[in-house]
Amino acid sequence: MAFIDIHGHYAWQIDDGMPSLEDAKIALEKAKENRISTIVATPHVVPGNQNEEDLKQIKKRIEDLKLLAQNYGIEVLAGCELFLNHDYLEALENDLYILIENTDYLLVEFDVRNELGNENEVEDYLYEIQLKGYTPIIAHVERYFKDELDLERIEDFIDCGYVIQVNATSFLGYHGKHAQKFAYQLLDAGCIHVIASDTHRCDGHRSPCLQQVFNLLVKKYNYETIHTLMYENPLHIINNEEVEPIEVKQSLFKKLFKRR
Ligand SMILES: [Fe+2]
Repeated sequence: MAFIDIHGHYAWQIDDGMPSLEDAKIALEKAKENRISTIVATPHVVPGNQNEEDLKQIKKRIEDLKLLAQNYGIEVLAGCELFLNHDYLEALENDLYILIENTDYLLVEFDVRNELGNENEVEDYLYEIQLKGYTPIIAHVERYFKDELDLERIEDFIDCGYVIQVNATSFLGYHGKHAQKFAYQLLDAGCIHVIASDTHRCDGHRSPCLQQVFNLLVKKYNYETIHTLMYENPLHIINNEEVEPIEVKQSLFKKLFKRR
């Protein structure tokens, strides 16, 4: 099967993603080896730090990446990863963000160094985005919790119609033991819509790894569930359709094996 990767920093020299064109070429080669057919390029956009000119540069580099990716048989769509900070309203008012191409989906992130907090600030941010007619996709949800996952809060996000994305690398333990545990907890609870790579580098632990993670997860969960997370729902997103909830089934046989 092919994969659609809706979160990746493949565009070079515009954020903390690929440091050079050469790196981007190697990353695209790896993406191809991983059977990734479509990539949404999601450079970081930080409200308050970037102006219209910066956004133009980002969009231009995404166009460069689109052309480059044709050599690898990979389709690239434009997008961004909007950091939700105190200046985010200004960014929303001044169009300083990039929706996933031809859709109303907007990939957003919070500060992974802090927990989500209890003051509902995050909920206000997300609600404002929804008021503009967009659907937030919350990037790497498993990375915002320190000691314990607040599953109820994630369920509330889902009830609000937000899309939950988890990093493939979290299942491999690359974001730490806690993020790994939370990624599995979210999957067991059926609280993930999409798994994406969040690729930043052409090698090492932040390089494209969707095939490896698919192989790992299909040993533990049923094929349809993982297929929905890594292909069907990403396809719904780029087609601007609603995502499907997943049904998590594990065979008794699979349950007998130690999972992690
Ligand atoms: Fe990212």
